[in-house]
Amino acid sequence: MAPASLAGLFGALGLTALASASVTKRGLDNSSKDHDILDFVDPLIGTSNGGHSFAGATLPFGMAKAVADTLGENQAGFAYDTQYVSGFSHMHDSGTGGSPSLGNFPLFVHPSCPSDDLDQCTWQQSARASAWSSPQARPGYFSISLANGVLAEMTVTNRSALYRFTFGNVTSEKLSPIVLVDLMDLPQSRTNGTASVDPSTGRLTGNGTFSPSFGIGTYDLHFCVDFRGAQVRDTGVWQNNRAGTNQTDLVLTYDGSNSASTLSGGTFTRFNAPTANDTLMARVGVSFISVNQACSNAENEQPEFDFPGTVQTAENAWRDKLSAISVDAEGTSDDLQKVFWSGIYRAMISPQDYTGENPLWQSDEPYYDSYYCIWDSYRGVHQLLTLADPLSESLMIRSLIDIYRHEGYLPDCRMSLCKGYTQGGSNADVLLAEALLKNVSDIDWATAYEAVVKDAEVEPSNWNVEGRGGLESWKTLNFIPTDDYDPYGVGLHTRSISRTVEYAYDDYCIAEMARILGHESDNEKYTQRAKNWQNMFRDDQQSTISGVDTGFTGFLQPRYPNGTWGYQDPIFCSPLLNFDSCYLNANGHETYEGSAWLYSFYVPQDMASLITRLGGRETFVSRLTYLHNSGLLYVGDEQAFLTVHQFHYAGRPGLSTKQAHAYIPSQFNTSVSGIPGNDDGGAMGAFAALSMMGLFPVHGQDVYLINPPFFKEVSILNKATGKTAIVRNTNFDPTYQSIYIQNATRDGHPWTKNWIGHDFFREGGVLELVLGPEESAWGAREEDVPPSMSG
Ligand SMILES: *[C@@H]1O[C@H](CO)[C@@H](O)[C@H](O)[C@H]1NC(C)=O
Ligand SMILES: *[C@@H]1O[C@H](CO)[C@@H](O)[C@H](O)[C@H]1NC(C)=O
Ligand SMILES: *[C@@H]1O[C@H](CO)[C@@H](O)[C@H](O)[C@H]1NC(C)=O
Ligand SMILES: *[C@@H]1O[C@H](CO)[C@@H](O)[C@H](O)[C@H]1NC(C)=O
Ligand SMILES: *[C@@H]1O[C@H](CO)[C@@H](O)[C@H](O)[C@H]1NC(C)=O
Ligand SMILES: *[C@@H]1O[C@H](CO)[C@@H](O)[C@H](O)[C@H]1NC(C)=O
Ligand SMILES: *[C@@H]1O[C@H](CO)[C@@H](O)[C@H](O)[C@H]1NC(C)=O
Ligand SMILES: *[C@@H]1O[C@H](CO)[C@@H](O)[C@H](O)[C@H]1NC(C)=O
Ligand SMILES: *[C@@H]1O[C@H](CO)[C@@H](O)[C@H](O)[C@H]1NC(C)=O
Ligand SMILES: *[C@@H]1O[C@H](CO)[C@@H](O)[C@H](O)[C@H]1NC(C)=O
Ligand SMILES: *[C@@H]1O[C@H](CO)[C@@H](O)[C@H](O)[C@H]1NC(C)=O
Repeated sequence: MAPASLAGLFGALGLTALASASVTKRGLDNSSKDHDILDFVDPLIGTSNGGHSFAGATLPFGMAKAVADTLGENQAGFAYDTQYVSGFSHMHDSGTGGSPSLGNFPLFVHPSCPSDDLDQCTWQQSARASAWSSPQARPGYFSISLANGVLAEMTVTNRSALYRFTFGNVTSEKLSPIVLVDLMDLPQSRTNGTASVDPSTGRLTGNGTFSPSFGIGTYDLHFCVDFRGAQVRDTGVWQNNRAGTNQTDLVLTYDGSNSASTLSGGTFTRFNAPTANDTLMARVGVSFISVNQACSNAENEQPEFDFPGTVQTAENAWRDKLSAISVDAEGTSDDLQKVFWSGIYRAMISPQDYTGENPLWQSDEPYYDSYYCIWDSYRGVHQLLTLADPLSESLMIRSLIDIYRHEGYLPDCRMSLCKGYTQGGSNADVLLAEALLKNVSDIDWATAYEAVVKDAEVEPSNWNVEGRGGLESWKTLNFIPTDDYDPYGVGLHTRSISRTVEYAYDDYCIAEMARILGHESDNEKYTQRAKNWQNMFRDDQQSTISGVDTGFTGFLQPRYPNGTWGYQDPIFCSPLLNFDSCYLNANGHETYEGSAWLYSFYVPQDMASLITRLGGRETFVSRLTYLHNSGLLYVGDEQAFLTVHQFHYAGRPGLSTKQAHAYIPSQFNTSVSGIPGNDDGGAMGAFAALSMMGLFPVHGQDVYLINPPFFKEVSILNKATGKTAIVRNTNFDPTYQSIYIQNATRDGHPWTKNWIGHDFFREGGVLELVLGPEESAWGAREEDVPPSMSG
């Protein structure tokens, strides 16, 4: 995607791109001073090769997300490595790894039916699909051309989508556009559905019952489509590949067979040739509450079908969100700037604000959805939001607590008003602790604490979707055994190693909350439980690759309830051995989406004892280097993120910086396949942006690991306190040879610790880093490394 041609396109649309020179100071490069920050956001990054990024139009955290849906691997609707568009739908998730998500009630447009005969038009999803070309994506805007002659453009408000269909190259004598709606969703999960059409106005309404893409239960969704720009010719319903004009309603009840022929069907409106500009507009309201609310959402949010105005409002919302962060981009390549801004953008697509759209309970609290999943987002997304948008982070934390109030547990994963699958620990505990440490505002901490303690103490009947499993073993054996005996709840008895290290860290975070909130005995209890990782650490375990000893000893290993060691090859579940067999499958293994090699580093609460246990700093550094260089690590899964920066704990902050540069841009770049794994609701984007920003947050702690930004300077405005924190590189080297901190000052005073607390962002200030081409002694002393619970 070339911003230059987009600027041309937007000019032609009559949109004014707000020049925001203040957002990106470009130093001496005054030729591009007028660049709009949105020119550095490319929503097409990560839409190919399994990235599953949402490419379409959305507001920050908006419910409506409009895009063209393609046939193929279409988790987020549009994927670049596809050929055909089967519809345009209004709700999506971004970057997710389960089944395709949402994509309900797609519209499809035919410029006309062959011989003007309804029976010769195509109706069902795969029959009607048309080859696509020239997708254009920009925050708040998406367009695509179809081989059938339709140019489809789309934009959104919070709860409605606006489509502009242009038939530029279809001769107007023949033009009699048909817009059909399909009671279908992307995963083809619909059971019951109804659709109606008003023959006088052409309004299409209806609803359906659907399944979430990575969870249990069902949800109902409603829609309401209005048109402008052409006279209604006739209306009707369709099913299979037939349509007729003498019905106004279609009721589809599920017959138990999940085939397109029983699921596909809907209504349509046919128009005379558009009255102006060969353009027909469709406005689609959506609601989880009712058809009436779907219609009123659209009517209230965009009464005028004002396409350019809606795009502009969306653009301004994005500029406003991104404005908390600014960079001095002198010397930094346009591509790296795009990696940075697009990463932040993707981290602000989800969770979605469904406040007022939750039919499950009445509450004055906000309701956000698509925490999809916290297992992914607790390692970067929420840390980035705490910096760039603390007020939204507060609403999200409040929403999590309200979910606890009404569902009985905090979610680990949640989408489409349903409970999603838990992958490891109860990691919302980490988010709540971190929010307390960082003083996120307006939180009911008493209830928050009650929620995390419930995770730690009370096993739910179905721990696949909330809480933790094996709690009795956790409390009595002090680890999660393989082949556990657990009659207290139902869940997948795999991942004993990865669950143990995550539960231990969750308990550490609860201990932090207990300390701050004054629950002294709980503090002691959970601090004790935070050591449980040690009980699965087998000191004499060795590891070989293809028969050759790696030279490292001591790895996490499974244990039976009787304490006897089991065995899982430490490289198992790494890209080197059976990587694809370690998901939430019934025959899964002892580690989740990663190896014991990887999980053996997951002791963020006590890196000091881990380093000692592994044989001291030098061994630790060579082992961590080996993890990154041996092919054992896949940086496309989120557990990899912290390992990039863990060299700090051994007093070698420069190696963290070096490792971050090794992955960015080689694994995080501007191509459509420019992220290494599923974006997972912006997790990959957040990792790239935080690494480039210089201060990498340790999730669950008041700790940011200091690295030089990839920019000459980065400023972060705290919108809660109004203070600005600036990280400035002296001797900035855009070729990234001089990336090693020689010394540092904070507000003019020497800063020797290789980490800094959130007070820097709350109170503002300047952290000045002097760079050189070689590692230095800065940040290397025992007293310079980040805190560990064992001191
Ligand atoms: C850029 O700025 C320099 C110094 O202020 C000035 O001499 C030059 O004419 C400017 N170039 C453009 C293209 O505006
Ligand atoms: C309209 O233009 C598109 C894109 O150039 C082309 O693929 C399509 O075949 C054209 N449609 C017609 C009906 O000529
Ligand atoms: C969208 O909703 C957010 C709250 O989630 C609100 O702050 C914002 O103003 C709304 N945007 C528009 C354009 O209505
Ligand atoms: C579908 O509708 C039928 C008949 O109205 C009803 O009995 C059934 O419970 C509905 N199924 C779902 C999944 O909503
Ligand atoms: C869907 O709409 C029909 C017709 O208006 C209504 O009878 C039905 O209750 C609705 N279903 C749901 C799940 O809201
Ligand atoms: C619908 O119209 C067709 C002809 O177009 C006619 O044969 C049929 O009887 C009509 N059905 C109803 C229910 O009116
Ligand atoms: C047609 O295009 C012109 C010029 O772009 C614009 O002023 C006018 O509002 C458009 N008409 C409609 C009905 O969209
Ligand atoms: C935390 O926030 C509260 C109110 O939002 C404020 O009174 C208090 O001073 C803050 N604490 C710190 C350490 O900033
Ligand atoms: C412990 O349990 C395992 C698995 O059930 C078994 O193979 C092993 O023999 C037991 N060890 C002892 C000492 O009983
Ligand atoms: C961009 O990132 C992808 C995904 O990580 C990677 O496969 C590709 O090699 C990278 N491209 C470049 C040019 O570095
Ligand atoms: C920081 O390090 C640089 C390079 O070693 C040196 O020139 C400078 O004097 C140092 N500044 C301070 C305050 O120590």
